[in-house]
Amino acid sequence: MSEKMTGREQKDNKLDTMLRVDNYTPNFDPEKEPILRVEHLKQYFKRTKAVDDVSFDIWKGEVFGLVGESGCGKTTTGRSIIGLYEITDGDVFFRGKRIGMGVDALKRWKKQFAEAKAAGDTKKMEELKTDKVVHKDLMTKIQMIFQDPVGSLDPRMTVREIIAEGLKIRGIRDKKFIEDRVAGVLEKVGLVPEHAERYPHEFSGGQRQRIGIARAIVLQPDLIIADEPISALDVSIQAQVINLMNDLRDEMGLTIMFIAHDLSVVKYFSDRIGVMYYGKMVELADSDELFAHPLHPYTKSLLSAIPLPDPNYEKRRKRITYVPSLSHDYSEEGPTFKEILPKHYVLCNTAEYEKYLKEVEELDANARRKQR
Ligand SMILES: Nc1ncnc2c1ncn2[C@@H]1O[C@H](COP(=O)(O)OP(=O)(O)OP(=O)(O)O)[C@@H](O)[C@H]1O
Ligand SMILES: [Mg+2]
Repeated sequence: MSEKMTGREQKDNKLDTMLRVDNYTPNFDPEKEPILRVEHLKQYFKRTKAVDDVSFDIWKGEVFGLVGESGCGKTTTGRSIIGLYEITDGDVFFRGKRIGMGVDALKRWKKQFAEAKAAGDTKKMEELKTDKVVHKDLMTKIQMIFQDPVGSLDPRMTVREIIAEGLKIRGIRDKKFIEDRVAGVLEKVGLVPEHAERYPHEFSGGQRQRIGIARAIVLQPDLIIADEPISALDVSIQAQVINLMNDLRDEMGLTIMFIAHDLSVVKYFSDRIGVMYYGKMVELADSDELFAHPLHPYTKSLLSAIPLPDPNYEKRRKRITYVPSLSHDYSEEGPTFKEILPKHYVLCNTAEYEKYLKEVEELDANARRKQR
């Protein structure tokens, strides 16, 4: 530490270090592995398979859009990642370390461990032990912005208390540090330090969502799961909040999982998009790629719902309704998640796979014809 640092600066520096994620995972290399890895996630509630074998990765600095209609399991996916549920099956890794293990995955682990033990394979036993550790402490580095900006803020707490809560949970008690941090993030989200004394009901919907964002970023998260952060807001305010999130992304190097129910919002904002239908991921690709070659009929139906500022297109635009029983014949062979083009995955069986490859060719031929 420099000699010139005052006692105050030293203290701030120490507390700031407590918040930094690199300290938890010094060996993580964002170039080599994704920041979040969700593998075969299942979240069943009694009769509902809310999330049913969903896998995806998110890389550092990316905006990953998760899209699908109401009830398809988007929020449940987010809540399962941050550990709000005991997940049914699957594995979740953050910065290379396990943060979630499903109940069924644990059962399989126990079986494997018993087998290794019976075989006297101590190396395997050690590997398995390391693999099972769930790094709960890393969870503070993933923050969620909740879908409902009214219900997610405690009405009896001031804005300062709401924002400072996470810092206190992290063991930070220093009043001056907390005050500075709260003022800092309020400014970052376009509010003013004086707002800290007020209560949530004194704010508009857009401002409340800003408070939710401030609460999320005060812990210097690495990954933000934004659950439909703008769908409850007026159209005029929506763009402001999107711009704010874009700025924060650049400024803080954030990675964002952005949940939305239609494609129009995520289109410009996301680098990659995952489309969910009834608990399943049906298509996953880079944004440009998904719009160039939409293949799954559900993705097509979502696309057909987006109006474009092109009168010719609007005249021709027909809403496509997705009816699974009419679109697929899975009587002989069920679907699996297949890579149709590099990094472009679709849930399909072999016959559909062949059909989609032809579709890609046709789409490309059409695009070339238009260019001429
Ligand atoms: N805690 C719970 N207990 C039982 N069922 C649940 C629970 N949470 C969600 N579900 C069910 O799981 C399914 C997925 O719900 P989820 O909230 O994840 O959908 P969503 O895609 O976020 O929808 P929306 O766009 O309306 O927010 C729904 O059928 C829902 O009723
Ligand atoms: Mg939801």
